Amino acid sequence: MSKKPRILAFAGSLRKDSLNKKLIKIAAAGAQQAEAEVTLIDLKDYPLPLYDQDIEDQQGLPENALKLKKLMVQHDGFLIASPEYNSSIPAVLKNVIDWTSRKAEENEPFLSCFFEKPVALLSASPGQLGGMRGLVHVRSMFCNIFCYIIPQQKSISQAHLAFSEEGNLKNLKDQEDVLNVGRKLAQFIIKFNAK
Ligand SMILES: Cc1cc2nc3c(=O)[nH]c(=O)nc-3n(C[C@H](O)[C@H](O)[C@H](O)COP(=O)(O)O)c2cc1C
Repeated sequence: MSKKPRILAFAGSLRKDSLNKKLIKIAAAGAQQAEAEVTLIDLKDYPLPLYDQDIEDQQGLPENALKLKKLMVQHDGFLIASPEYNSSIPAVLKNVIDWTSRKAEENEPFLSCFFEKPVALLSASPGQLGGMRGLVHVRSMFCNIFCYIIPQQKSISQAHLAFSEEGNLKNLKDQEDVLNVGRKLAQFIIKFNAK
């Protein structure tokens, strides 16, 4: 029997009432339905300075970058719900990727957290496009750091109106689609790890 896929899930937002934090919880539940072990983290718990090579040269990677790298290495894939800022990647998410893409040790393999890791993407926005323009850039970035981005993705438009008090999506088709993104990532990892 194959071992359970381990998925690290997070939103690319620090905001307390983040719509993307609500969305990632649903997708994480979908991954759990497909037998994944999901670790859901809040990037607010891992504050980082803006990437600055002078900091890296003088002090090495910040402690929270090391913690995030360790978590990433321990997991088989990533489930990410990202806001769209000015049609692109929010700085918080990009900064996390910039720091964690750096080597902590001289002999560490290239892009050790990311190399050949499956990734699934979602977004939520109060706007009409649900943040899908931003995901084009997020997808491109992960692709270029050697991740495998699964084709299933989902963007929730008018997301400020979309969630019930219990945290589910009021539109049942949307709820199912988001659960399915999580499920598909777990299923992809199971197949990928079996090879
Ligand atoms: C700097 C900034 C830029 C934004 N740009 C976009 C945008 O390009 N497209 C969009 O749909 N929403 C945009 N928004 C609105 C965000 O989608 C909205 O604030 C959303 O709630 C952020 O995600 P969160 O709820 O997960 O924090 C922007 C918000 C900020 C603060």
